[in-house]
Amino acid sequence: MSRARIVIDRDFTVGEVPRRLFGSFVEHMGRCVYTGIYEPGHPEADDSGFRQDVMKLVKELGATVVRYPGGNFVSGYNWEDGVGPVETRPRRLDGAWHTLETNAFGLHEFVDWSRQAGVEIMEAINLGTRGVDAARELVEYANHPGGTYLSDLRAKNGHKDPFDIKLWCLGNEMDGPWQIGHKTADEYGRLAQEAAKAMRFVDPSLELVACGSSNSGMPTFGAWEQTVLTHTYDEVDYISLHAYYQEQDGDAGSFLASARDMDHFIESVVATADAVRAKGKHSKHINLSFDEWNVWYTRPEDVDSPNQVGKHGWREHPRVIEDEYNVTDAVVVGTFLNSLLRHGDRVKIANQAQLVNVIAPIMSEENGPAWRQTIFWPFARMAELATGQILQTRVESDKYENARFGDTDLVDVSATWNEETGRAAFFFANRSLEEAADVEVALRGLDAVRVTRAEVLEIPEGSDRFTTNNLERGEHVGLKPLDDVKASGGELRLNLPALSWAVVEIETRTS
Ligand code: AHR
Repeated sequence: MSRARIVIDRDFTVGEVPRRLFGSFVEHMGRCVYTGIYEPGHPEADDSGFRQDVMKLVKELGATVVRYPGGNFVSGYNWEDGVGPVETRPRRLDGAWHTLETNAFGLHEFVDWSRQAGVEIMEAINLGTRGVDAARELVEYANHPGGTYLSDLRAKNGHKDPFDIKLWCLGNEMDGPWQIGHKTADEYGRLAQEAAKAMRFVDPSLELVACGSSNSGMPTFGAWEQTVLTHTYDEVDYISLHAYYQEQDGDAGSFLASARDMDHFIESVVATADAVRAKGKHSKHINLSFDEWNVWYTRPEDVDSPNQVGKHGWREHPRVIEDEYNVTDAVVVGTFLNSLLRHGDRVKIANQAQLVNVIAPIMSEENGPAWRQTIFWPFARMAELATGQILQTRVESDKYENARFGDTDLVDVSATWNEETGRAAFFFANRSLEEAADVEVALRGLDAVRVTRAEVLEIPEGSDRFTTNNLERGEHVGLKPLDDVKASGGELRLNLPALSWAVVEIETRTS
């Protein structure tokens, strides 16, 4: 049995929980849109073609903001193709994912879907094949009240009232050679600056995200952020980060410690943004938008566009990167959420990629059922229970050695406290494959009254850390009550099983 001692103090806060940390991502990729959120004719689809079985799970997941329409897809996308009568919308080749895009689903459909789901929209513009003009026209179409060609066209197409989309991404992964219209940092920085200006001339209330690096291993990482922010500092509010992780060569220890890389990535981008702030004598801070993150078991054939077309021709919504997540993946996702929350003073937006079918917490079958993957649970519980203030956590945990990160805490945690409800929530992961952990939390400035929620990821009898949920097996892995959690006075005590993710919520009184 390992041991961890954690101290929290009601007065030592990181900041308010940014609710946009519980974001997700819908890309025109694989079966995320078509047969994912949208499938006219499915027995569960409503009159708009929105699958209500998927909608129910989206609401249960608790996503607050959804990025759309890409991803790599957006860098070759004409937004105009997705508006107007569906019968006249063009069928196009999508070079990013080697698929045939029907455009049956576009901006109006996404706005309607988002309103039904109760999520905020984060709209990405194409800075790959297009530029300033298309960007400002899209903002006018979406947000101008009326009386101009484009805003009246929106009304004619069915939405008299503006969409009022506040949050916009200035392109996607423009540092990546795979990106359609890939640019150098100077080329992208200048383009993003001018696009941002033109978009804000139409609607000054926009919040804008500049593209950071596609991942921290990019050869231009750091220099890219510095150059891009030097060009755009006055025009943008956020810089983006993307990261995907996977277990490689059976090295579960390093995989379970991946959130340390996420911590380092975030802290490096904060440092770079603040260095540009100092050099440019700016007063505002640029915050972070971690607008793609997840576990992704990347296979070269998934992203090799020309070969896919050679093998299969141009297909409509093929199955791509439909990763089936296991118990270990869910624990790792829990640690990513902890990392994002602990950095909530600077990471203000985060989007798990993606929402349905494509490396997603929710799966659906064409003309069939929808279900939750293992990774659904840490996200859903944190989105529900992390409210109020993020608390600093002082952790003394037994450690384990792993190849990639060396000594790493066995127990990982994040915590929040909501003054209005009096509830404190703790999100734990035990990274040990073998040992349970005895955890003691010292509460300073708070007295525990009772435990209101205690749940742990369930590994069913006879299964192991590789167990997944799927169509045949159903939802094998879920949550079960975590027994013997004791909370009274200034102390919370619990036992975390080996390789586990758990949530504990307690009612507190201030002391
Ligand atoms: O989420 C899948 C893809 O990963 C996105 O389209 C792209 O931005 C990233 O490389």
